[in-house]
Amino acid sequence: MQTERLTPDRRGLTRAADLLSAGELIAIPTETVYGLAGDARNPRAVAGIYAAKGRPAFNPLIVHLPDADAAQAIATLSPQARILAERFWPGALTMVLPLREGAGIASLVTAGLDSIAVRVPAHPVARALLRIFGGPLAAPSANRSGRISPTSADHVLNPDGGLDGRIAAVLDAGPCPVGVESTIIGWQDSTPCLLRPGGIPAEDIQTALSRALATPDHRPDQPSAPGQLLSHYAPRARLRMNATDPGPDETHITFGNDGPFSLSPTGDLTEAAARLFDILHRADSENRPIAVAPIPDHGLGAAINDRLRRAAAPRE
Ligand code: TXA
Ligand code: MG
Repeated sequence: MQTERLTPDRRGLTRAADLLSAGELIAIPTETVYGLAGDARNPRAVAGIYAAKGRPAFNPLIVHLPDADAAQAIATLSPQARILAERFWPGALTMVLPLREGAGIASLVTAGLDSIAVRVPAHPVARALLRIFGGPLAAPSANRSGRISPTSADHVLNPDGGLDGRIAAVLDAGPCPVGVESTIIGWQDSTPCLLRPGGIPAEDIQTALSRALATPDHRPDQPSAPGQLLSHYAPRARLRMNATDPGPDETHITFGNDGPFSLSPTGDLTEAAARLFDILHRADSENRPIAVAPIPDHGLGAAINDRLRRAAAPRE
């Protein structure tokens, strides 16, 4: 299959919506990362997402919707969930909520669970497409399973670990402004839990709820949550963190000073998050081990360190 590169104008958006209606898969820009989108009501399209990514079938997908009302139609929002929807949607927040009966979502989306992950993205192109398409879009990050997430159309089409030839099209809207995946919140009984740190700092969510977030026990063998497979977001090269003493044979990813692989010369965590995956993609093509400087662990630094820990984890 030839993967079309679409411009996000009226014509490109209409073409993308037509392809989605025909059950095809499209990579779409969101403010966090590019998503591999398919019609969440179409079992064949959803199966195609798992196949294109080579994703293990037990890992459920996030459903993207145009607004909170559309989310209400497929999931039940508790009062706390409503507070978060009001405060952070559209935006980089995903909530895992009870799935409504008869919601019409293909069961492969939730991997058979009775909960569903929903998000209202803020990216204007994603929003325009959701409006024109008029239905829910299942969309994991648009990379092969276990590889680095894409923050540009070039990453999506990367011959190594990308989806060129495996999907119908990519809507090219340039780089993603946030650069790390959404923050995922779920509830255990009525306790809010941080299932994945991401584009919205956990501190901001705690402030909105006036309470602390629990962190569920991490069971790498049982990925109840996001990206919980230990080796995830992985470059091919070996990667180590908190490196203050990079060796001459290592590509040094820096923070707080200049350099060819600087996450942020000024030590700005928002800029570092936005550049993280692009720098990992570039560092990986150097074919040398990667040493990453220490990154502060607050705000977006928590999401950056989470992704780096997974990239550094031993793999099979
Ligand atoms: O920023 C993002 O969230 C991007 C963009 C494209 O929206 N999407 C993304 O999707 O990162 P994905 O599929 O790579 O990550 C979704 C994570 C999965 O790791 C999955 O484990 C978790 O969400 N998830 C989805 N449904 C769930 C559910 N019902 N219960 C628990 N976790 C769930
Ligand atoms: Mg992913």
